[in-house]
Amino acid sequence: MALDEIIEKAECSHELSKKEIVKLLESDECNEPLFSAADRVRKKYVGDEVHLRGLIEFSNLCVQNCLYCGLRRDNAGLDRYRLEPETIIDFAGKAARCGYKTVVLQSGEGDLYSCEEMLHVISSIKALDTAITLSMGEKPREEYRAYRDAGADRYLMRIETTDKKLYEKMSPCMSFENRLRCLRDLKELGYEVGTGCLVGLPGQTLESLADDILFFAEIGADMIGVGPFIPNPDTPLGKAPGGSFEMSLKVMAITRLILPDINIPATTAMEALNENGRMIGLQSGANVVMPNVTEGDYRRLYALYPGKICVNDTPAHCRSCITTKIMEIGRRVSQGHGYRGNLTR
Ligand code: SAM
Ligand code: SF4
Ligand code: FES
Repeated sequence: MALDEIIEKAECSHELSKKEIVKLLESDECNEPLFSAADRVRKKYVGDEVHLRGLIEFSNLCVQNCLYCGLRRDNAGLDRYRLEPETIIDFAGKAARCGYKTVVLQSGEGDLYSCEEMLHVISSIKALDTAITLSMGEKPREEYRAYRDAGADRYLMRIETTDKKLYEKMSPCMSFENRLRCLRDLKELGYEVGTGCLVGLPGQTLESLADDILFFAEIGADMIGVGPFIPNPDTPLGKAPGGSFEMSLKVMAITRLILPDINIPATTAMEALNENGRMIGLQSGANVVMPNVTEGDYRRLYALYPGKICVNDTPAHCRSCITTKIMEIGRRVSQGHGYRGNLTR
């Protein structure tokens, strides 16, 4: 089948074989038609509204050692922080007053807070009438259950890559099976589950990116975040080539074609590679943006990769900046909580 026929098939049936996905990924001849098709599918299934999720980077401590990430435990040069529970609640309150209907609490992994502390944070933020997304790594099922019972609505945990060997090489001491266990537990516990992948990891193939996209459909993901791997000089992969903006955009666009009604963020890492990256993402299948609502120097210290955007900006500035950009491309900021399928809970 020719490339334009594959795109047409995906737009109509939302189904593609691995071979067809690889074909789309390996040629750049039909990139624009691919992005336009993803944009049409986005418009048809989730409309023109853009959901903003206010991101609080609440601790940069991490017990894991992912080769690509600046928060890895062996990165001794990074000043570490752990926000007090009341500070997290304060940042969330300010985000809610700025009009955010979701806050995302993200951190490195480990027992950084007791379960009681997290339950207090979650229930206090829930009382602000905001949805809560957690992204704090792998936990026992019972802890996920307690967070869910306290009011957490969504959980983000990228699979990073579905190539088990590559995953375990990139994240020594972590088990691919446990990552899958977490994603399945979260789904069973009633979370909206977000996963996703890094594009351009050393040794990653187009076949494995195609597997990633098929995996997103297989596990019934509600949200998918796709971003380029950006080499961080303070990590063992500092001299690796890194992922491209275009390839990340293609993986994201194909994901929209296959999973037409899910929430897809235009990721911050895309904007680190292209100064208009998030708006291009929103015009190529995405319908979510996650502006930073962390205050002060913590933004800079949450140093996953170099070139991170907004490190010297305030939450209020980012909020008005992103609203203007969204309006400039003819879209509007949603006033709802932005659950998948616009369900209220
Ligand atoms: N610790 C949790 C986890 O790993 O799921 C959540 C926080 S982690 C910093 C969030 C995401 O950052 C990861 O899923 C990974 O894809 C991304 N990330 C880390 N290092 C990166 C890099 N060098 N380039 C691009 N994205 C990166
Ligand atoms: Fe830790 Fe997450 Fe970074 Fe891995 S990606 S080192 S688990 S913060
Ligand atoms: Fe932070 Fe534009 S979103 S400055």
